[in-house]
This record gives sequence, structure tokens and C-alpha cells, in this order.
Amino acid sequence: MEIKAQSGSSFGASVEGFDHTTATAEDIKAIKETIYTKKIAVLKGQDLTPAQYLELGKMFGRPVVYYEPMYKHPEFEEIFVSSNVPKDGKQIGVPKTGKFWHADYQFMPDPFGLTLIYPQVIPQKNRGTYYIDMGKAYERLPQELKDEVAGLYGVHSVRKYFKIRPHDVYRPISEILTEIEEHTPPVRQPLTFKHPLTGETVLYISEGFTVGLEDADGKPVESDLLQRLFEATGQLDDTFTHENIHLFHPEQGDLLIWDNRSLIHRALHTTTPEPVVSFRVTVHDEHKLYDGMPA
Ligand SMILES: [Fe+2]
Repeated sequence: MEIKAQSGSSFGASVEGFDHTTATAEDIKAIKETIYTKKIAVLKGQDLTPAQYLELGKMFGRPVVYYEPMYKHPEFEEIFVSSNVPKDGKQIGVPKTGKFWHADYQFMPDPFGLTLIYPQVIPQKNRGTYYIDMGKAYERLPQELKDEVAGLYGVHSVRKYFKIRPHDVYRPISEILTEIEEHTPPVRQPLTFKHPLTGETVLYISEGFTVGLEDADGKPVESDLLQRLFEATGQLDDTFTHENIHLFHPEQGDLLIWDNRSLIHRALHTTTPEPVVSFRVTVHDEHKLYDGMPA
């Protein structure tokens, strides 16, 4: 196994010659270390069945089953399926997922540390994923903004991007909205926290899931600060040329593992629909989102 940093960039590394059936505990540790510091590691040349993929995922942590059943792989509930390709005439998983800036499970009380993506069908034209490293993005904020965010909390909710399920058709929207607030009430996290593995400060917000800011007493912050933070970190740039934004195009056999604490990401979908299928496994590593997080 050989870990190679992406040339000319502090972002990303590729791992050649990784075989999960023979990998040692040291190999896994070295890859995790790379993920935390380089933010994303791409395991090259993987050829895995869903069962093997899940097995590999478990070597990196404890899998989390997605809370909405319609995303689940028919055989392995730990695998989340993003697909626009019907199987035996049936929709499997959900098409067009994640076309907005987010960290996975940011709207949940206990977000996991690592996301694994294993593309199955890769389109020919522009498709890939955009990333922003919110540790670097925090570092680059002007001092005045850093001063403003100190001591505040972010409020996160799935409400803007909750996907209507087949059984929601013909239901009143108000009923669905009430259900979302009951099942997944907004969660509050510190606006910045110290990454438990690297010590860097992470600005924990995304345009998709962060819906408000509060002070330490839970009083809403009535200002445009959140918008200014989205702007400053590159999340409102619809040309995707902001210096914080990285684009990654996978190739067949790539298996991506990234740091879900500090990276936010956004799927790039072409306007002309092309077949695309991707399997996701998400895992908790040995730490909570940040050390000292209330249980
Ligand atoms: Fe995602």
C-alpha cells in the first residue's frame, strides 16, 4: 500500500494497492491519519461487491444506517444509494441527492466522522463533487468575522432539503413539515469547534442545513452574519471558482473517504440526465463530532 499526496495541493491523497482483505491495523490508521489531515483519501482500483464494501467500511468505524428507509440498499441497510438507474424496472435508492452545500447528518444530534463513497456508475460529462474545507475556510476569515463568531451556536435542520417520499404524494405540505420538525427537530452545535483529531478550528455551517445562529443563552442572532459567513467561505459562489472550492471527478474503481467534520460537499449534476449510481457508507470513528460534546 502506498499513500500519495495530491501533487501541488494540500488537499487530498490517493492510496494505491489497498486491499481490505489483507490490510493491517497500521494501514487503516495511516489512511485515517491521511483523511484527517488531507481531508479526503481516494482508494484506487477497488472492485468490491456491496458486502465487501460494507466490510471495508467497518474497518474505519461503526456504520450508521440512514434514518429514511427509501435510501437504503435492498440487501444492506447500511448502504445509502444515490441512483437514477432503475433495477429490474424499480427505483433503487434516491436520484439527485446532495445538490447543495452540506456535511452529512449535520442536522442530526450525533453526526459521524467519516463518509465513504463508492461510485458505481460514473457519467461521462461533468459530474463529481465540490468540497470546501471548513477548517481552512475558518483560517482564511478576516479577524473581524472570527471575532463575531466566537461563542455563538449554529442551528441545523433538514427542513429545506428533506426529500418528499413516495407516500407523501397527496399529503398536505403542512403535515409533512410538522412531521419533519417532530422527527428531526433542529439541533444546535457550537459554531466553531476544535477538530478532535487535528486540533484545527472548524467553522461548522452549511448553506443546506444551517438555518440560524444563536447566542450562548439560545437567543437568535438577528443579523446577516450567517449569510456573510456563507459568502466568505465560498458557499454562495455559483460559478464555483472561489479559492476554497475543490472539485473532484472520480474514476472507475475509486473509493472516496473524507473527513465529515471539516469538509462540506455538494454534488454536481449535469442538466442533461446521465446514468449515475453511487453507494455511500458512513461511520463513527473513535470520537464524537468534537471532544466534550454532550452525550
Ligand atoms: Fe452528502
